[in-house]
Amino acid sequence: MKSVLEGRPALQEVIDQIQEVTGYLWQKGWAERNGGNLTYNITEFVDEQMRALPPISGVLQIGKTLPNLKGCWFYCKGTGKRMRDLSKNAMEAGAIIRILDDCASYEIVADKCIMPTSELPSHLSLQDYIIGSGSSYKATLHTHPIELVAMSHIRKFCSGEVLTRTLWSMIPETLAFAPLGLGFIPFALPGTVQLADATLEQIGRYDVVLWEKHGTIAVGLDMMDAFDQTDVLNKAACIYKTALQFGPEPEGMSPESMAEIQTLFKLPKTRVL
Ligand code: 13P
Ligand code: ZN
Repeated sequence: MKSVLEGRPALQEVIDQIQEVTGYLWQKGWAERNGGNLTYNITEFVDEQMRALPPISGVLQIGKTLPNLKGCWFYCKGTGKRMRDLSKNAMEAGAIIRILDDCASYEIVADKCIMPTSELPSHLSLQDYIIGSGSSYKATLHTHPIELVAMSHIRKFCSGEVLTRTLWSMIPETLAFAPLGLGFIPFALPGTVQLADATLEQIGRYDVVLWEKHGTIAVGLDMMDAFDQTDVLNKAACIYKTALQFGPEPEGMSPESMAEIQTLFKLPKTRVL
């Protein structure tokens, strides 16, 4: 059967970038087995021919009503699918869905009837927030970055404020490229609406959110951007861990130096989507 990617080079380009990013996730050791998931808003690439596609699934429930998603189309990783397989063929490890008019359900329309990720409530809640903010962001990415997840096992780091201050102080780039820092969400069951609601509550204040003892979720202009956001923060965690191996508690940049960087680079203090 013909793929929806055929004859749609702009959509193909987006999928190519998603494949490139998922390769990085595997190489970094952040994507064991089926670990992690992602969605991408592809609505702008949907033409009349695509709109006429018949569903290849029944009507499926999101678990939440998300009013801004009416008529939107998303590429989603499939549940149980591996990032390393997705990096070779996105349409064999994911599917394209369209949101129905009730804004609470969806159908799979291409290429294969692959059930979307179990974290769909969190991803689509973020997509709904993005659209509601009038933003041009398109990507959401959940992954399992080793050092950040490890930090969430240490009580003193279980706070967005402490995590952010510690990570920012490791290297100026973290402050520059993740100026809102890392939010923290106490443990919630994977795939639940409770986790989705807690994530939504934090994403307006932080660049990336850390799910305790689980992983991160980020939003981005595109998938590379969402990856970079996560990577910058995890790099700071790696520096913290390495410094700790050399001696006592790492010093970190002083609050004065960090304030200077914030002023010099005119870093935003609230989310600019
Ligand atoms: P899925 O395979 O359903 O995407 O789940 C992976 C995961 O990381 C859950 O949090
Ligand atoms: Zn996960």
